Amino acid sequence: MNEPHDEPRTDESPRTMGQQFGRRSWAEPWRIKMVEPLSVPSREERREALEEAGYNTFLLPSEKVYIDLLTDSGTSAMSDRQWSGLMMGDEAYAGSRNFYHLEDAVEKYYGFPHVVPTHQGRGAEHLLNQVAVDEGDVVPGNMYFTTTRLHQEMAGARFVDVVIDDAHDPASDHPFKGNVDLQKLSDLIDRVGPERIPYMSLAGTVNMAGGQPVSMRNVRELRELCDRHGIPIYLDAARLVENAYFIQEREEGWGDTPVADIVAEICSLADGAWMSSKKDHLVNIGGWVAVDDEDLFDRLRNLVVVYEGLHTYGGMAGRDMEALAIGIGESMEDAYVRARVGQVRYLGGLLQDWGIPIVTPVGGHAVYLDAKRFYPEMDQEKFPAQSLAAQLYLESGVRSMERGIVSAGRDPETGGHRHPELELVRLAIPRRVYTQAHMDVTAEAVKAVWDRREEASGLEMTYEPDFLRFFQARFRPL
Ligand code: F0G
Repeated sequence: MNEPHDEPRTDESPRTMGQQFGRRSWAEPWRIKMVEPLSVPSREERREALEEAGYNTFLLPSEKVYIDLLTDSGTSAMSDRQWSGLMMGDEAYAGSRNFYHLEDAVEKYYGFPHVVPTHQGRGAEHLLNQVAVDEGDVVPGNMYFTTTRLHQEMAGARFVDVVIDDAHDPASDHPFKGNVDLQKLSDLIDRVGPERIPYMSLAGTVNMAGGQPVSMRNVRELRELCDRHGIPIYLDAARLVENAYFIQEREEGWGDTPVADIVAEICSLADGAWMSSKKDHLVNIGGWVAVDDEDLFDRLRNLVVVYEGLHTYGGMAGRDMEALAIGIGESMEDAYVRARVGQVRYLGGLLQDWGIPIVTPVGGHAVYLDAKRFYPEMDQEKFPAQSLAAQLYLESGVRSMERGIVSAGRDPETGGHRHPELELVRLAIPRRVYTQAHMDVTAEAVKAVWDRREEASGLEMTYEPDFLRFFQARFRPL
């Protein structure tokens, strides 16, 4: 039988059905059973809402948003199976059967036998770092993530970025921009000593680099290097499924391996993982940390009762754990992942056709606009990406997120702004939520802002919270 998605898209193939009656290379392996109405607030309403939100898209009420691309976290549409799983919630305080389903699913797909549930990813980050890190330690990672680094720092460690240089270059076309630079890591180990490194923090994909993957080869080489020094590897597995899809697509020798097997292979090279199930797992809340080591598990399981809840629910309701256990299996289906990553790439392709600067290659969960190339004259301390996200909302009601100097925060040692190379606006695509037509409308909205890019003047910050400032900071136009 001829499968429509067997035919790979080529760069010459038309991107929209309107362009030509060309064949599409993929279609979603689901149909829509229930819909949620959307409306477009007027320009005047958007202007008022933006002002009230202090030009921070995190502070907008969602009712004032048309297409919500703030995040792919917790915003997925669940399947009919997951919804029916909610009805099977066992809300026992201790020993809920849904927890055992979750434990089985994690072991089956990720291979780690010991699972501690948490309310979401940062709950897992908190536990793992409190247990693994000592004051004065150094944690290397393939680029920082906001909450991850904060929990490493709050546990007493200093984070050191060991991602390859290409990750910091939005225009580099490296197929695995999330790779660890083994030389940087090796130099770090020599400098501080392996005993000061409690673990290697390995994210697949790398969110802040644009949703960029790590290659299997790189993970294998990393494993060898860490083995030589007795350093464990813990995975940030939030989007590991999407990472595995890129390996299947791009790395020699993996083209015929199912995504689920690639995920399992990566996990077999790690000592544990923490998870924000709000991403890959197609649920609205949930997470876990899972490890091989029994002693580490014991300490995690003890600490979870202090901060999250008993070790058989960790802050989730029984029904949430059931939906999550089902979502894990669904997230690993090849046809699903192809359509998911394909939709993100479709949006990226539309923008590239118009010459709009984005991070390339297009990543797994989001398209990232390059605010430095959007507003080349704007000083980074005028918050170009924050300004661009505000403009896009004002223009169209499309909500995006800053991933630049505001997100990077202040250096705890100097107190000054960190100045990241990447000054980006993220258009994150929720899973199974929006259609191709929503992507078309989004691309046209970005194009309208691009056409008027000369008008932007930047922002100044008027309120700055102490932690993770991007969530709650306020701004005003200059
Ligand atoms: N790790 C990565 C790579 C993430 O992207 C996130 C969350 C977390 C950990 C923390 O998980 O939100 O469940 O506590 N990222 C969201 C985002 C917030 O929009 O990218 P959490």
